[in-house]
Amino acid sequence: MTQTSPAQLTLGDKTISLPISKGTLGPDVLDIRKLYAETDAFTYDPGFTSTASCESKITFIDGDAGVLLHRGYPIGQLAEKSSFLEVCYLLLHGELPKASEYEEFETTITRHTMLHEQFDRFFSGFRRDAHPMAVMTGAVGALSAFYHDSLDIHDLRQREISAHRLIAKMPTIAARAFKYSIGQPFVHPLNKLSYPENFLRMCFAVPAEEYVVNPVVAKAMDRIFILHADHEQNASTSTVRLAGSSGANPFACIAAGIACLWGPSHGGANEEALNMLKEIGTPERVKEFVAGVKDRKYRLMGFGHRVYKNYDPRATVMKQSADEVLAAVGDPNDPLLQVAKELEQVALNDDFFIERKLYPNVDFYSGITLSAMGFPTTMFTVLFALARTVGWIAQWKEMIEDPSQKIGRPRQLYTGATERNYTPISSRG
Ligand code: CMC
Repeated sequence: MTQTSPAQLTLGDKTISLPISKGTLGPDVLDIRKLYAETDAFTYDPGFTSTASCESKITFIDGDAGVLLHRGYPIGQLAEKSSFLEVCYLLLHGELPKASEYEEFETTITRHTMLHEQFDRFFSGFRRDAHPMAVMTGAVGALSAFYHDSLDIHDLRQREISAHRLIAKMPTIAARAFKYSIGQPFVHPLNKLSYPENFLRMCFAVPAEEYVVNPVVAKAMDRIFILHADHEQNASTSTVRLAGSSGANPFACIAAGIACLWGPSHGGANEEALNMLKEIGTPERVKEFVAGVKDRKYRLMGFGHRVYKNYDPRATVMKQSADEVLAAVGDPNDPLLQVAKELEQVALNDDFFIERKLYPNVDFYSGITLSAMGFPTTMFTVLFALARTVGWIAQWKEMIEDPSQKIGRPRQLYTGATERNYTPISSRG
């Protein structure tokens, strides 16, 4: 981080200097840390549209240009040439691994995939019709009740072990949440399989039959994990950082991130996007649906983004994966894919969407792809959570290891009642 000449701010009769920091990429940042002490004023920015909450070296997004870089590497290159586990290493360590480092990392993750035997009993406490995200929030939070030996956040080795445990055990927990909801027996991890293959097997294998992983589906699964691995300071990542800033253990922080991700404006949008395509049903109904969006009756799910004011670079890869998966295991003429393509064309050529810079985001095509792979809509956000765990944990580690880290404590613009005296209930009119 470098600094340029400071900005001057005049408030009443006081003028103060505010340092301006320059990152390696992205807009300059006005450092307002001393603002309150020097002027007795706060800044006001609900939704953090102009606020950088931290310094980070992990992910960079240029929303206008549609650029997403992890540790400097473009998402398109990672999705095409890398693997999810390699991206995990990159996010956690800052560099791509050498062959020996990758081998060691892969072995470590593979050997942490099993869950404590008693953990399995935890699932049966949930109703069968529970949303798998409800199960995920509870189950991941419960990890801190099982793995006491990696809870000391001040110990580098324990932080590392927690990171490995989370990346390794999320597929096992997610698959169990799915199996529990459909009443099938849990399938244990199999170490000879790759990370995505193992997950698919734990989701779709049954004891009565041999399960053979389809390589096209496994590749698409790995890509979907890469596309969701991290996304800078979004709502759930900021939640993880805020929870972690109080010193909470990593399992509790990731559970907080999962809870935040569940919302329909964030990770829940992929489920909503597919439901929307089903509701539209046929390409002929697209125009009528778009008219409803313009009348503000509902939002076009899978469209628009707080940061991207251009095509989400993840959506480009996802669209390609949708075509590949549907050609391999689905119906390339799937009516929902036709609806999505028609909807995209209509929206991209309509002034309402052009003026507001609304483009497809990662969730627009992910639902169709995941559905063709055999996942019910309720599992979509779970898969997002599984993949985003590495981003959350990398951001959490970066925060804990930042010497300037403080507990997160925003202030407010108070507009409530001024001080008044308590009146007994008998004297209230
Ligand atoms: N459909 C219709 N209009 C929209 C949409 C949409 N999907 N998104 C934004 N707008 C309009 C909105 O009505 C507003 O118009 P006006 O200025 O006339 O009032 C304008 O665009 C700006 O909207 P905003 O709500 O101020 O924008 P935001 O940056 O706060 O919201 C968003 C970002 C992602 C919440 C929003 O675009 C949205 O609700 N999209 C649908 C949900 C979705 O697909 N979410 C997944 C995001 S990608 C995965 C992830 O990272 O979680």
